[in-house]
Amino acid sequence: MKEPIIAPSILAADFSGLQNAVNEIGVSGAEWIHIDIMDGNFVPNISFGPKMVADLRPHSSLVFDVHLMISRPEDFISTFAGAGSDYITFHLEASSDPGELLQAIKKSGKKTGLSIRPDTGLSLAEEFLPFVDLFLVMTVNPGYGGQKLIENCLEKVKNLKEIRDKKGYNFLISVDGGINGETYGKALAAGTDVLVMGEAFFRAEDKKAMVNTIKTNAFLPII
Ligand code: DX5
Ligand code: ZN
Repeated sequence: MKEPIIAPSILAADFSGLQNAVNEIGVSGAEWIHIDIMDGNFVPNISFGPKMVADLRPHSSLVFDVHLMISRPEDFISTFAGAGSDYITFHLEASSDPGELLQAIKKSGKKTGLSIRPDTGLSLAEEFLPFVDLFLVMTVNPGYGGQKLIENCLEKVKNLKEIRDKKGYNFLISVDGGINGETYGKALAAGTDVLVMGEAFFRAEDKKAMVNTIKTNAFLPII
């Protein structure tokens, strides 16, 4: 088993001190920063836009894992690429031409990400798998942090891993929503590579210890 990548989501941080939140993530040993972009249209909540990504960029050398929960993602790829994203993930449900959008992300020099909501079947995304660097499995309905994991979404993680192994694809599998000290083991057992953590990370008193525990436990046969 590989060591999982931890991607704390700054959606759960105090927005009045985001620079501090980014520093805390760096010190914790997590490798990625998950940045949730919500437009109040594709999802029933608004978070922040590309300027926030650009303003945070000089303060961290960690991987910026930008999760677009927005309608018309095609209108914003170059903006988010220019803002300093490393991975740009959009929702299959929000795009009229996912194949073209994946190409546009690649052309902008960024890693491609595709995501599906809990009620969207994996079969709809299968044709795009050869072109994605990251597949983000939503394990809650997108829009808010602090929700409970919808456990049957982890079946998609298992299926993705099987498809990847069978076809020789290279994408990373990420889970997003409701991942905490009680649930991360199930996500790892299903085959995820990246754990997005919002509330669980920012509520942890000792973030470094939490990250360390997850990484160490990932190598135990029973989690
Ligand atoms: C939900 C967002 C998630 C969220 C996860 O729509 O995509 O990234 O921040 O938060 P937790 O880990 O608190 O469920
Ligand atoms: Zn997210």
